[in-house]
Amino acid sequence: MKSDVYLRQNAMVEPLFNQWYAWPYLVSPVTAPMYVGNLHLRLMESFIANPQIHIAALKNPEMAGGPFLSFDESKVGSVAQLVEKTRRQSAPLLQFADAVRELTGILTSRADGASLLPFYPDVPEVLRGYVELVYDVNHHPSIRFLEPLLYRSLAYDEAAQSLDFSVVEGDDRPFVFSTPRLEEGHRLRLPLPYRAEGLDRVFRMRERPQPLGFAKEALGISGAVDARFEGLFTDRAPRPSSVHAGPGVRLRYFGHACVLIETRDTTILTDPIVAYDHGHGAERFSFADLPDRIDYVLITHAHQDHCMLETLLQLRHKIRHIVVPRNNGGGLADPSLKLVLKNAGFASVTEIDELGAIETADGAITSLPFFGEHGDLNIRSKTTYLVRLLGKSFLFCADSNAFEPRLYDHLADIVGDLDVAFVGMECDGAPMSWLYGPVVTASLARRMDQSRRLDASNRERGMELVKRLRPRAVYVYAMGSEPWLTYLTSIHYSESSRPIVESRALVRECQAMGICAESLFGKKELQFG
Ligand SMILES: [Fe+2]
Ligand SMILES: [Fe+2]
Repeated sequence: MKSDVYLRQNAMVEPLFNQWYAWPYLVSPVTAPMYVGNLHLRLMESFIANPQIHIAALKNPEMAGGPFLSFDESKVGSVAQLVEKTRRQSAPLLQFADAVRELTGILTSRADGASLLPFYPDVPEVLRGYVELVYDVNHHPSIRFLEPLLYRSLAYDEAAQSLDFSVVEGDDRPFVFSTPRLEEGHRLRLPLPYRAEGLDRVFRMRERPQPLGFAKEALGISGAVDARFEGLFTDRAPRPSSVHAGPGVRLRYFGHACVLIETRDTTILTDPIVAYDHGHGAERFSFADLPDRIDYVLITHAHQDHCMLETLLQLRHKIRHIVVPRNNGGGLADPSLKLVLKNAGFASVTEIDELGAIETADGAITSLPFFGEHGDLNIRSKTTYLVRLLGKSFLFCADSNAFEPRLYDHLADIVGDLDVAFVGMECDGAPMSWLYGPVVTASLARRMDQSRRLDASNRERGMELVKRLRPRAVYVYAMGSEPWLTYLTSIHYSESSRPIVESRALVRECQAMGICAESLFGKKELQFG
């Protein structure tokens, strides 16, 4: 390749942490140690001890998202090497996770409502000065972590971050959260932190060609490159993107909870997940369909399918501001998305409070509360967004579970005249431990775990929201139904799956009320005004 080249539309990058697929909880120094110690090592050691259990479990398709490594026995040695490497390189993180367990044990067994000062000498060394011991108002003791300070401690290990580059030819990617990446193989693994500025220069090459040497330098590659590197680039220009230059508001559904909202002056992207364009499978919008500049990215919550580092890093060069919900601060289950994204190289990250608003050139973005879907944990970093542009209004409800309809009575005045409600209806949801098990410090009985689910609204609850907010149109989204999402969600719907049955019933009920309603899948473009 002698001329300038483009980064391929189907060039994939997987951010990794200790060779595990990275998501926000693997960035925060409060949560990452808990996942390394309480999930990654446990899973790998279980596989080494008895690979047959993992192999047998994964023969059952229903176990696809479960705690099993997707390897055959030949990988036992490689997994053992990764365990050894993790124990060596992530020793400070493992000490942190052990210290949290030890200190939690001390507090729960000995703190009786009297002063916590006598316990400070017992705080394990790695936590000293990074934690305050506190009671809630019911005298339950807990640990308050100084999260910003921990980003400057040994618990924040950027050296564990890396990026795997490869080219994808289909949507079929195995589930990523229970199996690490081992040998590089056909992937090009670069030991770069997510904040590496050169990534922006390379991802901009999807739109603007550069010499191959430019990409090499941007990625810090000094030696010879091989076909894995050259294969990421092409001399073929991407298909032209259709810029929205007309009047009114144009919406483009990119799949799951990712919607592009454009006016002539403002571009907004919700919960970015952009599918790769490899020319096969379901129709889709992809990188070529995004504008050069995204004014606001809106993140609804920290779940992997909504705050998706893989896509965010590839769009960072065109994102002006990211808006995230504010967290509670100091807890183990609710890390700061602002700190996660700041440390992942995003220059402008704005925290929004419940009912907070941001004025845009031709409208406003308002944060409205979001109940449920987090296993009843006290997680505040979740929000819905009301986007008003050019007099049109769109509500992105993400995975809200409308089990308390009175909330929408209270919000109806604020929402006012509503053009569209985007409603998530993944109403089965995983048990709480599926996501939060590694940060739960007390024992979790099956009865508790099964009842505290990560579930969105069913038909009945979705209709309570619809009846109270009276949108002109309802679109069911965020179902994880696109074929390019199974690596994140492990969801494989059939016609009888409850979320499909419930969402179809909601669509019919809305239509019977004269409301335009549809379940979105794959790709959709809508024009307003
Ligand atoms: Fe969620
Ligand atoms: Fe979701």
